[in-house]
Amino acid sequence: MQRDARFLQAENVRLSENGDSVIIIDQTQLPGAVKYLELRTDVDFYDAILKLKVRGAPAIGICAAFGYYIMARRIAEADPVCGYEEFCHRLQDRKEYLNSSRPTAVNLSWALNRMEETLRNHEEASLQEILEILEEEAIAIQQEDIEMCRKISGYGLSLLKDGDGILTHCNAGPLATSVYGTGLGPLILGREQGMNFHVYSDETRPLLQGARLTSYELQKAGIDVTLICDNMASLVMKNGWIQACLVGCDRVAMNGDVANKIGTSGVAILAKYYGIPFYVLGPVSTIDRTCSTGADIPIELRKPEEIKEMFYEKPMALSEVKCYNPAFDVTDHELITAIITDRGICRPPYTQSLAALFGVETPN
Ligand code: MRU
Repeated sequence: MQRDARFLQAENVRLSENGDSVIIIDQTQLPGAVKYLELRTDVDFYDAILKLKVRGAPAIGICAAFGYYIMARRIAEADPVCGYEEFCHRLQDRKEYLNSSRPTAVNLSWALNRMEETLRNHEEASLQEILEILEEEAIAIQQEDIEMCRKISGYGLSLLKDGDGILTHCNAGPLATSVYGTGLGPLILGREQGMNFHVYSDETRPLLQGARLTSYELQKAGIDVTLICDNMASLVMKNGWIQACLVGCDRVAMNGDVANKIGTSGVAILAKYYGIPFYVLGPVSTIDRTCSTGADIPIELRKPEEIKEMFYEKPMALSEVKCYNPAFDVTDHELITAIITDRGICRPPYTQSLAALFGVETPN
């Protein structure tokens, strides 16, 4: 199939030349090394998502969509005369397995559900035709993400001024999406247009996505970036160095509560105190219409070793000490100045502005 040239820019997750596997950049190796990993089996995909080799809500969704297609190929290879219902049944089992790899980013189940719906809409097709249709759907999900990131970046940029100081948390750049990113998109687009921003990147404990990925991406994009520890955010705000906060999102509830990387809510509370706009950026696929508030969003708990050992040669704490390691927190909608989507900028009250994105009118 003829691919959009821009598709090739999405280097972090891509189908191999013969379409039989998926190649990702192993994000756990950055910034030390750019290493590519080939994913061929269900366990490869599950492991890559669970261990954050591929991470960031939209990139997880894209990888899972390709994973679904590759699982379909594996089933067809093992049983080329498999009947439609049996094929759907086996693929549903693999879908549920992939979907259980991480709970918070809704893009994972969103992409898998979309792939399954595509399968269910082609009952009359042959196995070979189904494989081609699923391949096209996974590619479409990635190409749409490129367009969505461009739109989000443009809307976000309209809220910034040349020379602004920006604070960001975690990583919501090209590595977490396809191109541009969401939270970092306006900065990369603005730089392309000759604008200059001064970005402060929270390191983002415990897995250091800000240090390892955000400062790497911004530095490579020629953007002035200064890495800070998470506990320095208050100081740079107090110093008057920050004019806006930009973050991505893993799941948005219909009242505007937002789940994003642990520590995001603390940044939003500080921004409110210092009177700094706090912007959340993400595609409409990150809005979960089944969650009315942030209390409905499942929060992933990860291994204590990530706090006690990861990235250090020596233990950081006694091995027997108790740890609490939630990977995400929920930022209350009252702290959020605007939610910037590919369909436009939503302002409070979010119950109305988010519903309007789906064509739903709510009472005033
Ligand atoms: O645990 P991670 O690294 O997958 O968490 C990622 C984030 O919290 C990002 O900010 C979010 O997914 C938005 S990515 C465009």
